[in-house]
Amino acid sequence: MKPMPLAVMLATGVAACSGDAVDRAMSDSSSARTDSLTDTVSAEPGPSLLDRVVQPAGFSSSLVETAPSDNDLTEERAQLGKRLFFDPILSRDRTVSCSTCHQQEYGFAEPRSVSEGVDQQLVSRNAPHLANLAWVRTGLFWDGRAATLEEQATQPIENPLEMDLGVAKAIERLSEDSSYVAAFEAAYDEPPSEASLAKALASFVRTLVSANCEYDRYLAGDERALTDSAARGLALFLDGKTGCFHCHSAETLTNDGFFNNGTYTEDGDAGRQALTGRTGDLGKFRAPNLRNVAVTAPYMHDGSLETLRDVVDHYARGGSGHPSTDVQIEPLDLTDRDKDDLVAFLNSLTDEEFLSAPEFQP
Ligand code: HEC
Ligand code: HEC
Repeated sequence: MKPMPLAVMLATGVAACSGDAVDRAMSDSSSARTDSLTDTVSAEPGPSLLDRVVQPAGFSSSLVETAPSDNDLTEERAQLGKRLFFDPILSRDRTVSCSTCHQQEYGFAEPRSVSEGVDQQLVSRNAPHLANLAWVRTGLFWDGRAATLEEQATQPIENPLEMDLGVAKAIERLSEDSSYVAAFEAAYDEPPSEASLAKALASFVRTLVSANCEYDRYLAGDERALTDSAARGLALFLDGKTGCFHCHSAETLTNDGFFNNGTYTEDGDAGRQALTGRTGDLGKFRAPNLRNVAVTAPYMHDGSLETLRDVVDHYARGGSGHPSTDVQIEPLDLTDRDKDDLVAFLNSLTDEEFLSAPEFQP
């Protein structure tokens, strides 16, 4: 996805979806496929999403409190959002769902450097992992261009490179499916609409809470939860010598700020600058929380680093050295053992329960 102003993105998305002839051709052949999809994406609610939520350390608000006042978090809403998340009905040719690019076993990221949308088109950025996004205070997407999860949720449906359907067409399709109409009525007291589609998807994404890794157990007081190497890695992570915690705060593993961490190279993705126009924002992206980072490779907004060791080596070198790099990123004096320890700490952030929770499955 090219970082471009929101208005331009929406305009492009709408233009790409106004091909009525194409859409008629699609809907002619779609009824049989819709039936088979209904088999794979269950209309029955699964195990409770809200009941599994555990509060991660470092956040003062509870998950329910993070929801905006016009979209209180309820089980019906989250379950409807989950069904939509796994349903390719939201893409033009019914081949791509949110879960195509956000896969549970990879922490709701995917193991490729940049994503592929309808017609095998390549998106320009790496699919971020999805966990604990309910608490993000700045903005969603690598460059923060969506203020809320609700605002984020419809963008992939509009994006010509991702799902390329357009929200209006999505609402038409959902309105033709009586079980969806009933689910929207139950969740929002109204038939499918742009607002309720966005709210339902956001409600599901909100429930993707990860708070059960070795590091969480350590934070909860179990000193033996970390291996010796991971404990040394944590000490380095929290040490002024590496400064990792400046951007990836101690408990939440992010301060939600935008930084150029030295991934940017000349003529690369301008990141936040394309949004704000400010010179100082060149190559800045939101510092991700590092939840499940051992399974979310490849790394950075462009998927340019393959392994966690590559990430540690990147920081040890002081990044690309491009002059726009943040002043906090400078060459680090790390031994091989230090690097192994940092990687061991990053490995302690894997939440096996989150990666296999049946609550998150279709
Ligand atoms: C074709 C692959 C693809 C599909 C389909 C897709 N996404 Fe994404 N998603 C991405 C990429 C790539 C980004 C990062 C884009 C950017 O930052 O510019 C992203 C970003 C996000 C983010 C922001 C994460 C963060 O840390 O800020 C959320 C939330 C999200 N997607 C949810 C969804 C939902 C919900 C759907 C379905 C309606 C969906 N995605 C469909 C690839 C995809
Ligand atoms: C100045 C702020 C800053 C500091 C200091 C910093 N990071 Fe980062 N980190 C970021 C940003 C911003 C990104 C995303 C950059 C991008 O995608 O271009 C990132 C990305 C990462 C990623 C990849 C996450 C993913 O999902 O792709 C890892 C792992 C990581 N940092 C670990 C560390 C470690 C370990 C340290 C200390 C050696 C550290 N960071 C220091 C800001 C920082």
